[in-house]
Amino acid sequence: MGRYLITGGAGFVGSHIAEACLAAGHEVRVLDDLSLGLAENLAGLPVELVEGSILDPARLARCLAGVDGVFHEAAIPSVPRSVEDPVTSFEVNATGTLQVLQAARQAGVRVVYAGSSSAYGDSETLPKREDMPARPLSPCAAAKLAGEQLCQVFARVYGLPTVVLRYFNVFGPRQRADSPYSGVIARFCMAALDGSEVRVDGDGEQSRDFTYVSDVARGNLLAMTSDLPGGTVLNLSGGGRYSLLRLLEVLEGLVGRPIPRRHAAPRPGDVRHSQADVSRARELLGFATEVGFEEGVRSTLDWYREQRDGAATND
Ligand code: UD1
Repeated sequence: MGRYLITGGAGFVGSHIAEACLAAGHEVRVLDDLSLGLAENLAGLPVELVEGSILDPARLARCLAGVDGVFHEAAIPSVPRSVEDPVTSFEVNATGTLQVLQAARQAGVRVVYAGSSSAYGDSETLPKREDMPARPLSPCAAAKLAGEQLCQVFARVYGLPTVVLRYFNVFGPRQRADSPYSGVIARFCMAALDGSEVRVDGDGEQSRDFTYVSDVARGNLLAMTSDLPGGTVLNLSGGGRYSLLRLLEVLEGLVGRPIPRRHAAPRPGDVRHSQADVSRARELLGFATEVGFEEGVRSTLDWYREQRDGAATND
């Protein structure tokens, strides 16, 4: 069994990777600055939580001691946040990744990097294949892409075993719903539960390849334990495509009442449609999703309901 470091392991995706690692019998160390992550996401899990930043090389080196690989999830993921503050986005997403790669190179261990479908930008072709040219549309997308290219360069120049997984709109339990930057499923679930109005940016026909978080965690483990050549880039997604209007329909079915909506202007830097071709991950990793869209939305809604009811009981 292995011992792995998860940067951003107290965050949404990172904490699910921690769970998946533990379930597979691995040991887990987490490095998280708790800026977006929450210690409670790891509550009850036997993980070593180190509070600190990926921008601190000494801390990183200590965290890498004795581990067999790094899942690099620490990032500031939001597109609109990066439009407001491109410098911080680049510092954490690109320079932070450089620091992780440098530390992994010194330790000689594999890095599985949380890449982003935002690399594809708004190219018309669907589904997106890994060999399509990159066309980032936002500072966040450019920074995540820089991180991805650094993973490839470290493989080429230093022989570091790196794998890039391009995530497509990950959703599920523990995704933060409390910020205007939160993912659309998290925000719409909360509105569906408390009866408030949702904000639909544009006409709501824009669509995404929503991917349930436990599938993403499983894909990460497959990538870590694979013998893929360094620098491999793989899409990781559910492989379907659902519009926001379809999402609202599913949620309305689950809560049994209409969800009031207000249309706003489309978001700057927004991608109209997004869907992955997942055949490469299927061929090279044997990856297949286990949780479909509607099942995932139901589990996610149930989780937010439990959180809300738990909070109400504790008041
Ligand atoms: C997502 C990722 C981002 C990644 C990008 C790749 C999340 C949270 N973000 O961004 O990290 O870089 O994919 O393309 O998964 N919307 C509303 N109302 C709301 C919130 C959002 O209508 O209250 C709309 C947005 O304008 C957008 C769509 O829903 O059209 C999806 O937004 P969001 O969940 O923020 O994800 P992406 O922008 O696709």
